[in-house]
Amino acid sequence: ADTPTELLVRSQAMASLYRGVLAGLALLFMNLLLILMARPPSADGASTAKSKISAVFVFGDSIVDPGNDNHRLTEAKADFPPYGQDFPGGKATGRFSNGKVPGDMLASRLGIKELLPPYLGDDLPISELLTGVVFASGGGGYDPFTSIPVNARSSTEQLGLFLKYKERLKASVGEDEMTRVISEGIYFTVMGANDLVNNYFTFPLRPHQYNLPSYVKFLVSSAVNFTMN
Ligand SMILES: *[C@@H]1O[C@H](CO)[C@@H](O)[C@H](O)[C@H]1NC(C)=O
Repeated sequence: ADTPTELLVRSQAMASLYRGVLAGLALLFMNLLLILMARPPSADGASTAKSKISAVFVFGDSIVDPGNDNHRLTEAKADFPPYGQDFPGGKATGRFSNGKVPGDMLASRLGIKELLPPYLGDDLPISELLTGVVFASGGGGYDPFTSIPVNARSSTEQLGLFLKYKERLKASVGEDEMTRVISEGIYFTVMGANDLVNNYFTFPLRPHQYNLPSYVKFLVSSAVNFTMN
């Protein structure tokens, strides 16, 4: 049985997760807008140009994690009911949602596939690797310190997984095909809410080092560096 302190810690963690979700939703739409604007214009400038998107890749936190944390020792998990109660089959897959998460919706709206799987999911067939996967980790953030207390994967670790993914793809379909998939992919990042809610406003380390505006500058700089990488 849990001690009262453990219960308190857990309910606080849940409360901050919810606050994180709200803050994250706002960031989500900004990020999507930025990414759509950042896509290079089509060669002939015409809106009818065939700008082909063949794969979706998502980085971020619990808002977009479809189950990468399932096999990890972390509190930031969602592989049990009532998560997934409205998901196909009523299954708790690790998505922090009653149903689908944004990566699924994006992939299906683009006509690519119905569900966007976690990169660390079991037995991903090559067809899934070719059409996109998610590297996000519940509890993750840009600031490496954010991920430590919850044992999530930071933005840097997620980039590391992406590099591994590229190697894996190259090994199975060759370099040219890997390059095509990577260049025809759309990249989507939802991160930053945990850096504020579960780190800056929760632990004393960062407030001791940065005031709020300078911490936000640090996050923006991290986000820019992440996107450039
Ligand atoms: C981002 O990259 C620049 C240039 O390498 C570096 O000076 C800066 O410290 C980086 N920002 C963060 C938050 O790591």
